[in-house]
Amino acid sequence: MPKKERFQTPTGMHDILPEDQLYRRRIYDVVEKITNFYGFKKIDTPILEYTDLFSKGIGLDTDIVQKEMFTFKTKGEDVLSLRPEGTAPIVRAYLKAGMFNLPQPVKLWYLGPFFRHERPQAGRFRQFWQFGLEVLGEPSSVVDAQVIQIFYNILNDLKLKNLMVEINSIGDSQCRPYYKKLLKNYLRSREGALCTHCRNRSKTNPLRVLDCKEEKCQRIISQAPQMIDHLCSDCHQHFKDVIEFLDEAEIPYRLNPYLVRGLDYYTKTVFEIVEQSPQGESLGSLSGGGRYDGLAKILGRRSIAAMGGAAGVERIVAVMKEQGIVPAKIAKPKVFLSQIGKLAKVKSLKIFEDFRKANILIVESLGRDSLRSQMAKANKLEVSYGLILGQKETLEGTIIIRDMKTGKQTIVKLDNVVAEIKKRLNK
Ligand code: HAM
Repeated sequence: MPKKERFQTPTGMHDILPEDQLYRRRIYDVVEKITNFYGFKKIDTPILEYTDLFSKGIGLDTDIVQKEMFTFKTKGEDVLSLRPEGTAPIVRAYLKAGMFNLPQPVKLWYLGPFFRHERPQAGRFRQFWQFGLEVLGEPSSVVDAQVIQIFYNILNDLKLKNLMVEINSIGDSQCRPYYKKLLKNYLRSREGALCTHCRNRSKTNPLRVLDCKEEKCQRIISQAPQMIDHLCSDCHQHFKDVIEFLDEAEIPYRLNPYLVRGLDYYTKTVFEIVEQSPQGESLGSLSGGGRYDGLAKILGRRSIAAMGGAAGVERIVAVMKEQGIVPAKIAKPKVFLSQIGKLAKVKSLKIFEDFRKANILIVESLGRDSLRSQMAKANKLEVSYGLILGQKETLEGTIIIRDMKTGKQTIVKLDNVVAEIKKRLNK
């Protein structure tokens, strides 16, 4: 077994190696194209924020705030956290920059690394990348459907198969408190049969019990009262409209009355897009989000209706690989430049630059001196033409073009080499 290197990446964090960059490039291209089309503007917020932003915004009783934040005190005694998600920072940025003065809604998108101190397992990392969309300043249900549609379109454009939108409404400050009470009473009556974690959660955050995966809790959950039956008329109509829009847009969805999500800021619509097995089971969430009409009021002094979502880049890459989706290959170079001798090496830099300006991909191996090893590399790269610049050619202002297939060599003027290669490549 090979010896382990002395330094490892921190637990749950990974290098993104060149072969994975191809998948990511493909994802970022699709995200950029589609968000652009729908009129979203890019925003970047700092990786670090004051911890308060998250404990107030995401909720003190959530797993993220209670267990998963990387928090530390700075030399100036500020308490900061690595961002575990993007929505609270974006609402903060919207308020700080006075974006409520712009024509509403303001549509923003973002891409970057996020951090959660979770137990590492498949699809769960401590540093992961998300892209997200937020639409601020618009209460209409059509926005909920559009955000879901955009995420669906992005995943679809990436050619992912077996996608399913799961959707639910978790009400608002009008109807949720009553439902919470109902649920709490119901869970109290079954307390003995719940797992320890849910026994505690049923008192502090009963909605979170609904997405417990423990079998014994599942039995109790299946009989529990459902939010959907207790929505106020406003939330009910809103949800009905979202569903109608999804029907109209022909997006496959499934009502999931147990979908509550792990962040406290949601109101009304919540959704996840999952990859599902042929039997229809969820194999994990690729994207999730919802409406958060109350968050701006918690973080500032204004009520701003808002809706958004985010998707995990590593999870999408994993599904692309699993489903055999190959991102477009990087164009292969067609020309290899070999040089012999110091003077030729010096001249090579200029030749290389001439090819770059002519937009012809060319490779070299300036570190190698022997022609043999350079030709071996050219063969390995399967280029069409080799250029050989020896001492004699350098002095005469010429260069040899070698057709790598036939082995035929032609001497041309160095000044004409780009044009000669262009001709041969039909460019
Ligand atoms: P979230 O569901 O916590 O929502 O995360 C969104 C996506 O990020 C997940 O569907 C998953 O693909 C990915 N993800 C989350 N945690 C991890 C992890 N530990 N490792 C790898 N991937 C992960 C949010 O973060 C909300 N801010 C979304 C939102 C935007 N809601 C409204 N606007």
